[in-house]
Amino acid sequence: MIHSKDLRKKFLQFFAEKQHAIIASAPVVPENDPTVLFNTAGMQPLAPYFMGEKHPEGTRIANIQKCIRTNDLEEVGDDTHCTFFEMMGNWSFGDYFKEETITWSFEFLTSPKYLNIPIDQLAVTVFAGDDDAQRDTISSDLWEKLGIPKERISFLGKKDNWWAAGATGPCGTDSEIFYWVGQGTPPIHSNVENDELSWMEIWNNVFMEFNRNADNSLTELPSKNVDTGMGFERVCTVLNGHKSVYDTDIFADMLQKLEEISGKKYQSGIVINEDNLHDSDSTIQTIKRMRIIVDHIRTAVIMLSDGVRPSNVDQGYILRRLIRRAIRSAHQLGIEQSFAVKLGQCVIEKFSEIYLNIDKNKAIILEELTQEEGKFRKTLIQGLKEFEKLLRGFAIALERSGKKITTISGDKAFKLYDTYGFPLEMTQELAKEHSLEVDAAGFALAYKKHQELSKQGSEKKFKGGLADDSQEVTAYHTATHLLHQALKDVLGDHVEQKGSNITSERLRFDFSHSEKLTDEQKEEVTQLVNTQIAKSLPITCTEMTVDQAKSEGAIGLFGDKYDEKIKVYTIEGFSKEICGGPHVENTKELGVFKIKKEQASSAGIRRIKAILTK
Ligand code: SER
Repeated sequence: MIHSKDLRKKFLQFFAEKQHAIIASAPVVPENDPTVLFNTAGMQPLAPYFMGEKHPEGTRIANIQKCIRTNDLEEVGDDTHCTFFEMMGNWSFGDYFKEETITWSFEFLTSPKYLNIPIDQLAVTVFAGDDDAQRDTISSDLWEKLGIPKERISFLGKKDNWWAAGATGPCGTDSEIFYWVGQGTPPIHSNVENDELSWMEIWNNVFMEFNRNADNSLTELPSKNVDTGMGFERVCTVLNGHKSVYDTDIFADMLQKLEEISGKKYQSGIVINEDNLHDSDSTIQTIKRMRIIVDHIRTAVIMLSDGVRPSNVDQGYILRRLIRRAIRSAHQLGIEQSFAVKLGQCVIEKFSEIYLNIDKNKAIILEELTQEEGKFRKTLIQGLKEFEKLLRGFAIALERSGKKITTISGDKAFKLYDTYGFPLEMTQELAKEHSLEVDAAGFALAYKKHQELSKQGSEKKFKGGLADDSQEVTAYHTATHLLHQALKDVLGDHVEQKGSNITSERLRFDFSHSEKLTDEQKEEVTQLVNTQIAKSLPITCTEMTVDQAKSEGAIGLFGDKYDEKIKVYTIEGFSKEICGGPHVENTKELGVFKIKKEQASSAGIRRIKAILTK
């Protein structure tokens, strides 16, 4: 048995002993990557360092990264799916390679001081070889030398033993480690290839040595790197002999609180998978709803702590969807009182020591949960009535004219969205429960007709891939620093960055300020930025500790970072800001800065959209 707290500690301690710098998790919203809404893997925020950029903490790093994946939302409730998860990883940026990482993985898993897993409970896979890369006998030899029997080593193809961050970018072969989850003791010849269901992947060692180019060709990266990922929740589950992540100590406090609130018992140990997740059996349904509630509220707290606010677009839309889905599940469980804040408090207690953003933003997290719940609980019941009216209409049509309607029109779905706050996906779920469909294209049309909102909302942006470091994007990064400082100069020191999103066409910057900017203020900010551009100021990057950066008056998002080295970009005589980069070398490369729009983003937060023209 191992408590999640100990697993966390042991992992970081082990790699610290192997001279790794332990860094904080990056926020769940990528800092410089508009192509994805959330970090979905531990390597994502570190991708630039595989491409040759220097990490301020050196070439050996270990961390536990907060990740969010919401593309399998309907699977939440089964034994394994969570929308928020943590990924433990050790990283080599051109430092060690296969021998060290495989040896250390083995040591961490099997040594009595760490996880103490018996060798016969482990199996591994390595790359079988193809036109792109050779058969990985280096790794298989290493595993054998360490004591993994030949029978337990499977050679598999690209589908299993190749990892890529996106369609282009760093990639390479990998070697995965599996833990025995079958019945009894593993038979001598059992391995991942011939007994797949009895082995659960727990750790992936990726040997990042290639870059996939846009024309699909591979080139070698400047150095050979290692990216490993070990799912925190999954390891906690299997090492404690559980079938479900929801039966571990990770969710215990929340589920206990939910039992108190709902008066319902959470039953552990019942297997729920795709075969029975949608059964009408009331025990399964109760467990599923309880799991949805705790999962979604946990994720919501993490998102809120990293600055996401409920809204109708992008990350804010996903946050809203999760909270509303949790509220509907609570309604189905018969919960009549407010619950989100109480569960949110459990999450805060559990994580506040680990992720400093949580404690720092405690008040606002609870406030947002209260508001969102208050708003939606009122309209949910009315909306459900509206939905039932719709069903009655369908039934009457069938009775009167024998006409069987199976699709809810886009306009009806839009009304549920607009008047009652039902995210489209919620209406789709409701429809599915009654064997109906929703005209999603019709919904999109109705939506477009009514609102000229973000054209890229929802999850369509989940493309994966890497940060854009094109010239335009780089220029906008630097312009954002100028804007940030100019806003502080013009409006006051209360201005703090609350969000930033950059594409090759514009920058978008959210900051704390409670009033609309006057025309004069906008003009003053614009002029201040353009004056710095005209002055041709050089930009330099220095690495320093967080304390040093703070004492030098650097601004920017410090996030959870506290004892590690960071990069500070200085625009001579004007701005000093912590940032991962990239930036231009001189402000003269920027062109002319222009504010296109200034508007409210959420309570107390303003948003500026601005462009650069030549
Ligand atoms: N990038 C690999 C993964 O996400 C290992 O960290 O599985």
